[in-house]
Amino acid sequence: MSPETISSVLRLSTEYLAAHGSESPRLDAERLLSKATGLERIELYMELDRPLTPAELGTTRELVRRRGAREPLQYVLGEWGFRRLTLTVDRRALIPRPETEILVDRALALVSGRERPRVLDVGTGTGAIALAIADEHPGAEVTAVDASAEALSLARENMERTGLPVTLVPWDLFQGLPAGPWDLVVSNPPYVDEEDLLTLEPEVREWEPKVALTATGAVEAVVRGAAETLAAEGALALEVGEGQARGTAELLEQLGLVDVRITPDLAGIDRVVEGRLP
Ligand SMILES: C[S@@+](CC[C@H](N)C(=O)[O-])C[C@H]1O[C@@H](n2cnc3c(N)ncnc32)[C@H](O)[C@@H]1O
Repeated sequence: MSPETISSVLRLSTEYLAAHGSESPRLDAERLLSKATGLERIELYMELDRPLTPAELGTTRELVRRRGAREPLQYVLGEWGFRRLTLTVDRRALIPRPETEILVDRALALVSGRERPRVLDVGTGTGAIALAIADEHPGAEVTAVDASAEALSLARENMERTGLPVTLVPWDLFQGLPAGPWDLVVSNPPYVDEEDLLTLEPEVREWEPKVALTATGAVEAVVRGAAETLAAEGALALEVGEGQARGTAELLEQLGLVDVRITPDLAGIDRVVEGRLP
């Protein structure tokens, strides 16, 4: 029997993943094989005829089996890129999304004129937003809170992994926000409506923490908490779900925030709402 080569394993893995519901089976197979062999994706194609060692084959089979069970690719790989950082990702917290990079863009713009802004990230999960701000605005003094002890333990690992300074605090956003005054409150709160949970892909619905997806009233609680704890001229930037931006912007205005603005994500969905106290 001829040995399994990179080429044949790529083909078989792609077929298996396609049959098990992956929307990007070839790409998934390439990334999993890269992880199992330590080769870059481009290197796989330069060594298509190379046989896999028994250990590489065993690892690939296990990774492909996990992905075939609809575990998110990011959890199977164990790490994922966010802005300039590579973060550890696993079931303890939500996988950082591309649209949240746009939230970070707006957050950085809102504190760009300040040398040492005091920043609060509400519902930090992996720590993605807090760490990206600490990375890209080195003067920022960043505090990050989450009600999930598991998420905070993952955020701590990512803080150690990146070497970026963030103060992590266990905190329930429904009790208000930690006393400021904050120059910026930034948050990607749980914003999926409870009744929409069943419409999500199995990767999200069955693998990501429910507490990261849905918590009725979280968006409003963050806005109200921010209005009470922001410094004069302090800013708020929030990620919201499809159809929620206009209502959230109106709430900011009702609470006296000015320069209220909505930014769409790359799919054209109104995604980030911001404003600041006068
Ligand atoms: C949508 S996830 C965002 C994670 C991360 N900031 C990101 O953007 O990838 C929402 C986060 O809010 C946290 N959370 C849910 N309910 C909370 C509450 N009552 N108080 C504080 N954090 C909460 C969840 O644990 C989760 O980490």
